[in-house]
Amino acid sequence: MRTWPLSVALLSSCAALPAVHAWAAVGHEIIATIAQIHLPKPVLSLVCDILHPSLNLSDSPKDAAAPPCHLAPISTWADAIRTRPEYRYTAPMHYINSVDDAPPHSCQFPGPNGWMGRPTANILAALGNVTSVLRDYAKGERAVGDAEEALKFLVHWVGEMHQPLHLCGRDKGGNGVRVAWNGRVSNFHHVWDGLLIAQGVRLTPRNYTVPLSGSEGALVERHLRGAIYDPYIRRIMHEGLTDGGRFADESDAWLDCPAPSPDLQSSPSSQWTPRTPVGQALEHTLRALGVDIGLLAAPRLQALLDFNFSAALGLTTPAGTEKRWDDARMCPYAWARDVHALNCDAELPIWPHGLDAPGEHEGEESEVRGWHAVPYDVVEYGDESLMGGVVDVKQRETEEAMGLSEEGEDARTPRHPELLELDSPEYAGKLANRWVVERLLAMGGVRLAGVLTDILADVAGDVQT
Ligand SMILES: *[C@@H]1O[C@H](CO)[C@@H](O)[C@H](O)[C@H]1NC(C)=O
Ligand SMILES: *[C@@H]1O[C@H](CO)[C@@H](O)[C@H](O)[C@H]1NC(C)=O
Ligand SMILES: *[C@@H]1O[C@H](CO)[C@@H](O)[C@H](O)[C@H]1NC(C)=O
Ligand SMILES: *[C@@H]1O[C@H](CO)[C@@H](O)[C@H](O)[C@H]1NC(C)=O
Repeated sequence: MRTWPLSVALLSSCAALPAVHAWAAVGHEIIATIAQIHLPKPVLSLVCDILHPSLNLSDSPKDAAAPPCHLAPISTWADAIRTRPEYRYTAPMHYINSVDDAPPHSCQFPGPNGWMGRPTANILAALGNVTSVLRDYAKGERAVGDAEEALKFLVHWVGEMHQPLHLCGRDKGGNGVRVAWNGRVSNFHHVWDGLLIAQGVRLTPRNYTVPLSGSEGALVERHLRGAIYDPYIRRIMHEGLTDGGRFADESDAWLDCPAPSPDLQSSPSSQWTPRTPVGQALEHTLRALGVDIGLLAAPRLQALLDFNFSAALGLTTPAGTEKRWDDARMCPYAWARDVHALNCDAELPIWPHGLDAPGEHEGEESEVRGWHAVPYDVVEYGDESLMGGVVDVKQRETEEAMGLSEEGEDARTPRHPELLELDSPEYAGKLANRWVVERLLAMGGVRLAGVLTDILADVAGDVQT
């Protein structure tokens, strides 16, 4: 059993590490662990066999209580491999951006101008791709190696999909926006990828450092691995997901998919205008040539004008394409739409009012790097000026006591008064009170478990008999 002093020791040693990647990994590992807790045993066994085909894990259970493997360690594989040449194509699959998205005032998901990037190069399309690989494997039509890769991507992408800034088109998901966090310079995306979760872990009440008891303990404890965030998971389970918890009622609906909406072809076409400059020029030409207005209203022609030019250039994907990413059983777009909407939440928008106007940073962003080519949450971590984002409070206090901090004389003077401080009661404090981050982690875990069960339950049942 882990005791409180040990947890504190772990916590402070981690806080002193400059390894920002490790913190960013925490969100993925938590979601993977919550998913694992929710997986029926035969499904988890099959998942483990797919991940470790040579071990025959489900054939040889050493300890009936222990899970045959853990999902947390593979949950960040997709980050680790994405700079390899053969996986470079996956870089844009960690997120999706809608054109003209401008939270907190105007959330577009998508707006009339559609999505940035190609139709297959985004997280929602990629989720459809990997689930279909897994479904083919379940039908016996794919090799286990394909299923293994698809599974590792799936675990990561369901996690990313529950980080609202990975769905946000403004200022590169917040990477282009500098903010202050506990007096240090950070960027807004990084606050969401790592710092808020780190704070949630740090502020978990002490009673969660001991194992949960009863049926809840039996469900949860064997899936914990002695990680720094175990107490946080216990809390999310105990106060959030178990009977009578905050999310007990709504979590039943987290796997629901809306009835399919009428497709693009049948949408009213009277107010339609081409979305792309090339399409507009072509429409103009067609009209000038006297082409029948009725023909212009033909959905097929509209789709051609809208889609082919922008898509062929790799610049944007028209609105409406998202309908292809969902079906009745799995609907990443519908799920993501609700997560994205939090960016504009009326009471507590994830984009706080008080950050600079949208687009203010686009110029400097695109000078430094292209808009599409560079993966989001890797770049900033390599930037030394932003490494101060992970705050070691003790170190800071010591520095200030010794007169070593930047401003020296007065520790109370905000060191970056020009930046919006987010480690504040108005922002981080309210998010914590409302369990905004914990809800997203719980939702990601429950959905990941639901998707895996949906795909693999039949096969897992066969294997067991
Ligand atoms: C796993 O099982 C297969 C057949 O069930 C067998 O051929 C293989 O040798 C086993 N692998 C190990 C590592 O035990
Ligand atoms: C779909 O997923 C498979 C397996 O992960 C991958 O090999 C393939 O390149 C993917 N295709 C697209 C278009 O993303
Ligand atoms: C831990 O303490 C909190 C109060 O701080 C309480 O609400 C919660 O139920 C306790 N959890 C457990 C598992 O006892
Ligand atoms: C472009 O339009 C043609 C003709 O309608 C169609 O066959 C093709 O699939 C379209 N391209 C894309 C990328 O959808």
